[in-house]
Formats: sequence, structure tokens, C-alpha cells
Amino acid sequence: MSVDASIACPQSVPPQRATRSVPAETATPPAADATRRVAVLLSRLRSARKFGDGQSNPWPTYEQLRECGDVVPSPWGGVMVTSYEAANAVLRDRSFRTPDLEWRQQQGDVRWNSPANTELSQMMMLLNAPEHTRQRRVLGNTFDRATLERLTPVIEGLVDSVLDELELRMKEDGSADYAEIVGDGLPVAAVGHWLGVPAADFADLCVWTHGQSWAQELFPTASQMAFADESALSLKAYFQDLVAERTKSPGDDVLSSWIRAWSEAEEDPEQAATIVARLASFAIMAGLETTSNLVNAGMWLLDRNPEQADWLRYHPEGIPAATEEILRYDPAVAITTRVGSGSDSPSEIAVGKGQLVYVCIGSAHHDPRFIADPDRFDVRRPGPVRHLAFGQGAHFCLGAGLGRLESNVLLRKVLTRFPTLRVVAEPVWESRAAFRRMASLRVGLAPKPRFYSFGA
Ligand code: HEM
Repeated sequence: MSVDASIACPQSVPPQRATRSVPAETATPPAADATRRVAVLLSRLRSARKFGDGQSNPWPTYEQLRECGDVVPSPWGGVMVTSYEAANAVLRDRSFRTPDLEWRQQQGDVRWNSPANTELSQMMMLLNAPEHTRQRRVLGNTFDRATLERLTPVIEGLVDSVLDELELRMKEDGSADYAEIVGDGLPVAAVGHWLGVPAADFADLCVWTHGQSWAQELFPTASQMAFADESALSLKAYFQDLVAERTKSPGDDVLSSWIRAWSEAEEDPEQAATIVARLASFAIMAGLETTSNLVNAGMWLLDRNPEQADWLRYHPEGIPAATEEILRYDPAVAITTRVGSGSDSPSEIAVGKGQLVYVCIGSAHHDPRFIADPDRFDVRRPGPVRHLAFGQGAHFCLGAGLGRLESNVLLRKVLTRFPTLRVVAEPVWESRAAFRRMASLRVGLAPKPRFYSFGA
């Protein structure tokens, strides 16, 4: 992969392959230089399309970040972790905490204490022990084998219906937006159906979920933050009302079962209702914002590698591994955060108490020390790939089974039902670096299938 020398890391900051500690708080001139360099790379990373890179092709920028070191000073204080080994270590290391409500309040900063951030920081992914442990215990193993087996025909039906809609729109208009119809349509229906959310509300939930995500970005503008706040408050009000309604007339759905479980686990009924509303809201956000990237990236990567799409069409047993390779190549959660707790860290990554650690999963997954030829997309890679797309450690994704199921069912059906499906225009990415999102991916049907020969 080629690297733009104009933004290569300064020679005065040797690549930190061996040592993982960066004295971020003692900014010497070389560290300041490196910080500026990282700021340029991050600003390039989050652009929708800039210098041919940005979100349309973030991999060269990740490579340049890794060249600055495994752990590099972040422009906002704290550090950014770029290598697989260090990212894996931070996520597993329980001495790091998530930037929770208490941490945000200590920042005394408007952005960290915006309504969207305040809401988000009280959701499961940003809670710390003991409340985080309590909530995970009450939820249990949400997508165990029996649940996934029960959900399989439901997901198959939902995939058929989004593909019907895709076909209809392609017939009517010549092309259709895969990102809107399938990328958004499938995940919101899958989580919504599982939870027991009315289908009539799915479109609003998509808008609010995408809107609140700006609060989790590295450089949100004032208008993006305002949209995030408005969206977060709409989600909050929506789920508070739904929980109140379902408490009065419970049904045979997951939301009603959470209401029952929390009425026993939490003494204060108001607090119990708030917890359930936040869990439901987070399930929609976590399930939609991530699975949509998996679904869209799958379409995009297989379109760019048509011989692999053809191989999968005739080898459907390879589809689960293809899903893992899509998750490895283009993880939805490209950057997540932790904060130093001040206690000894087994991962030996030195950050002060309360300092942020940006864990760049996107870069970690393309680290050549983790995987051979990392920028090659290959659904036939030997052996299971231990990626970090679902996180690691205490906050490991609770919905991994559902996300994988959706992708596997979709790939099987889309490859056989539409052998001539093609991407017909350059995809449009949002200018987001932390949660990748394709805003549009236009597809159409080519007149003839392509034929490839491939080994057994
Ligand atoms: C391809 C699909 C998905 C991907 C790539 C994904 C990714 C992730 C990642 C990276 C984390 C951990 C973040 C961190 O440690 O900072 C996470 C946490 C979480 N995810 Fe997912 N997710 C997916 C689908 C889902 C679905 C479908 C649901 C629910 C229905 C879900 C629910 C959750 C929850 C509740 C957490 C928080 C767990 C905790 O903090 O203990 N996810 N996910």
C-alpha cells in the first residue's frame, strides 16, 4: 500500500513498535510534532472524501497512524492505540474504565455534557462496575443458541421482504439504494421485531439512531451535536413512552420480559422503567448502527471482488467465514474509547488517571503483525480470524450472534437471488471516523452474470 510521504511521521519520533508507553502529559517538541501529525491523519480519516482517502479508503491512513507508533499521543490529550496487540490488551484490561457519566461531568466541558452525551453515558456500553455487571447479569446470554435458532426463520422472512423491496425499486427506477433498503431496513427490523417495537416506528428510529451517533464522533460540529442532542432526546422520549405503555399492557416480547425482570431486580419502579428504556434504546442503536455497516460493507467488498462472490455462491458453507472477514476488514466500530483509572495496568499502557485512550480497531485489524497481507480482502483466509469487531473483555458485544445471523442469511439469499447485482455508483460515506457509515450505496441488475474460474 502506498503512503503519502507528506504526512509521514516525523523522523524525530521513532515508530513505537516495542514500547507502548507515551508520556502524553510531558509534551516535548517531538511529541508535539507527532500529536500534530496524528491530528492531520485523524482529520483526513473522518472526511467523507478527501485526497482520495477519508472514509472511502481509510486503510492507507490507518497505516500511517501505525507508522507513528503502537500508542501515539492523541491531539486531545491521552493516547491513540493503533496496533492489534495494544488494542486487544486495552479492551481486555479491566484497569481501564469507560468514559461514564461521572468522568464526563468531571470534564466541565459543554460537549461532554450535552444531552446526547449525558444519555449515552448511562447506557450499558458506557457503564462501569458495579452497575455494568448488574445490568449484564440481569440480561444474561441474550442471544443463546436456542434464541438464535428461534430467530432464524424470522430473519429469513425479514431478509426476503427487504430484498423484495430492493427488487421492486430496481425495477421501477433502474437502481436502488442498498444502504437505505437493506443496510438500514434489515437491522432495524431484526432488533425491532425481537424487542417488540411497532414496525411503523422503524423509520423514525433509523433517523434518530444515525443522528445520535454524531455525539460519539471525534470532531462533531455544532450542528451535528445539535442534531445528536435532538435525536437522543427523541429516542429517550420514545422508549420511555413505549415502556410505560408496555408496563400497562405487557405482551409476549423481549421488552415486556425486561420490564418483568427489572421490576424484581430494582426496588425503585421509576428507576427500573428508566433502565429498561435505556436498554431498549441502546439495543436499537447498537444493533442498527453496526449491522448496517456489516451489511453494506459486505455488498461493497463482494462487488469489488466478484470472483469471491461467485465462489461463495457455489460454496455457501464459506459464508460464515466471509462475514468474519467483512467484520475484520471493515469494522463498524472503528474507534472506541476507554479512560485510565490510575491503577496498575496489566497491558502496560501508561496513561494518567482520567486520560482518554482511543482504541483504533480499524487500524488494529490491518496490522500486518496481526494478519498476513491485511489489506487483501479474502473470504477464504485459512483458520478463524480473532478480530475485535465485537470488542473484547467486559464490554464484549451482547448482540454478536444476531449481527452474524443477519449477515449470514442475507449473503446466502442475496448471492443466489440476484447473481447480477452490481454497485452502480460510488458509495457515499458519512464523514465519521468512530462509527463508520455508508449513507448511500446504489445498486442495479446487470444484463448478464460474470463468470469466473476458481480453484476448489
Ligand atoms: C455487526 C453487528 C455488531 C457489531 C459490529 C457490534 C459491535 C460492538 C462493539 C465493538 C461493542 C463494544 C464496544 C466497546 O467495548 O467499547 C459492542 C457492545 C454492545 N453491543 Fe454490539 N455490535 C453489533 C450488533 C449488536 C446487536 C444486534 C446488538 C443488540 C441487539 C448489540 C448490542 C450490544 C450491547 C448491549 C453492547 C454493550 C455490551 C456491554 O457494554 O457490556 N450489538 N458491540
